[in-house]
Amino acid sequence: MPSSKMPCANGKISIAPSILSADLFRLEQDVRKVEEAGANWLHVDIMDGHFVPNLSFGPALVSSLNGRTVLPLDVHLMVQYPARFIEAFAKAGASLLTVHIEAGDDIRTALMQIKKLGIGAGISIKPDTDPQTLAPYMDLLDLVLVMTVYPGFGGQAFLPQSPKQIQGVREVIRQSGRKIWLEVDGGINKETAPLAVQAGADALVAGNAIFKAADPVLALKQIRQAAADI
Ligand code: DX5
Ligand code: ZN
Repeated sequence: MPSSKMPCANGKISIAPSILSADLFRLEQDVRKVEEAGANWLHVDIMDGHFVPNLSFGPALVSSLNGRTVLPLDVHLMVQYPARFIEAFAKAGASLLTVHIEAGDDIRTALMQIKKLGIGAGISIKPDTDPQTLAPYMDLLDLVLVMTVYPGFGGQAFLPQSPKQIQGVREVIRQSGRKIWLEVDGGINKETAPLAVQAGADALVAGNAIFKAADPVLALKQIRQAAADI
């Protein structure tokens, strides 16, 4: 990853806990738990009530995390016309900014804007979007985020068609010849993590399976173990 804030996982699977499922009253304790458990990135879901039928966080939360955690901030913009917010999230401390290909802006311009700000650039695709639509943007990408639920809420089940979608994206990345992360988001737990990795994922987001577990440290380690055991 060109951004110095997103270190390469050296062939290992990166785990990105999603703080959408954290206890916001005890956010610091929850972040410390996943740091201790060996998380690689912190996934921050931004929802605008238009692109998805839910609201979540804004740049202020990213700013509060910036410098308070050792984990790179992996910011997922589930926002219509995201270009208008790119600078604010970069200034707030995002290490990587991901926009949806379905979000309505000129994607190439948005990605160039992200790169110009010196951070990693990602595109996310929804479960029904054809992986081939990613092909024209490969030269600008550090990461593709494959949604394995319909975006908007934590705690949903991994969609059964997801392995095929992940394989399709992996093939587009392979054809590009570039090192681009393939991150999977939605319904990841110790049962589905191996399915995602087998299909080609090298980074996994997990919200509920970590933060709603009785022991988040153990839950993260079990997901990592399950992903390594394939
Ligand atoms: C869903 C979000 C996800 C969500 C994942 O729209 O993009 O990042 O937090 O949560 P789980 O792991 O609970 O499906
Ligand atoms: Zn997400």
